[in-house]
Amino acid sequence: APISPPDLSKCHLADGGTGVGNVQCCPPYSSDTVPIDYQFPASSKPLRIRRPAHLLEKEEIEKYKEAIAKMRELTTTDPSDPRGWMQQANVHCQYCNGAYDQVGYDNVRLQVHFSWLFLPWHRWYLHFYERILGNLIGDDSFALPYWNWDTPLGMYAPSIFVDTTSSLYDENRNLSHYPPAVLDYKYAYGDAVPSTEEAVQEVVNQNLLELSKTYKESLTLPELFMGDPIRAGEATETDTEASSGRLEIIHNGVHQWTGPDTVPYMDMGNFYSAGRDPIFYCHHSNVDRMWQIYRSMRGNKTEFKDDDWLNSSFLFVDENKQLVKVKVQDCFNPLKLKYSYEEVELPWAEVGI
Ligand code: C2O
Repeated sequence: APISPPDLSKCHLADGGTGVGNVQCCPPYSSDTVPIDYQFPASSKPLRIRRPAHLLEKEEIEKYKEAIAKMRELTTTDPSDPRGWMQQANVHCQYCNGAYDQVGYDNVRLQVHFSWLFLPWHRWYLHFYERILGNLIGDDSFALPYWNWDTPLGMYAPSIFVDTTSSLYDENRNLSHYPPAVLDYKYAYGDAVPSTEEAVQEVVNQNLLELSKTYKESLTLPELFMGDPIRAGEATETDTEASSGRLEIIHNGVHQWTGPDTVPYMDMGNFYSAGRDPIFYCHHSNVDRMWQIYRSMRGNKTEFKDDDWLNSSFLFVDENKQLVKVKVQDCFNPLKLKYSYEEVELPWAEVGI
């Protein structure tokens, strides 16, 4: 059977991991909160065009900063507002750190990482997050940028996140990874920052090669790219890397590289806190784009013709604070969700193996 949306009334303490312990990240709940089924935005709505973070125009940067500032303000004025910055971050904690058990299976945690749920769940998460941001600044066409880390010029922390006076800034990061430090998908805590020109070039080449291999080797094998199946009642495997898709594994490297290198690695290096850093959503915008590229390389074929995947569902809150139930099968076409990605060159696509 498919994974059911959580029972909000049974949210409990989550596990923030080593150095954090139990955390309270449940959403505000009252028994009269009833979810409605998701409806696609009206076709008359403008398309949100997500653009590379390192190529944003001044005006786009200002809008983005303003939207995030408003979201942060909500947390200050009403911490229980589900559209606020901390409540939004908590959504990630809820679905990733065991705040819910699977419906009907007490003691089996609901977990959206390490499996075929990873990409669809994060697509939905971003969809609502983006709508909320747009709504806060009264702009239906507002789009999240994407951290274009698959191109050499994008393999740095985007400068918009590095300005300490901006709402996009988060102090819980690895400061030694600010530009000119180059992003390494295979970064492990403690690795030195490559400093010579040759060493930087080597990392860039390794990154491109990793992407090129990932796509070539998994094009006919969606499990390899997306992650393994998970069905109602099944717990995540103990060896989480074994069940994760390769895109998720690359994405983990970016999380670890961005967050600080000491326990508990928050914000970006820890599930429970990752969503507190605005860069999270920009990173995930690219993860989502990389999935979309994979889909289009496969002629938009459905990766798994399996009802347990297609009907797995989740709950999110929209820009009107309405609780909405969504299904995996409804997120496949970004145009129906009213967003798209500005196309850029794919330098890794030409790298040989
Ligand atoms: Cu839910 Cu980038 O992880």
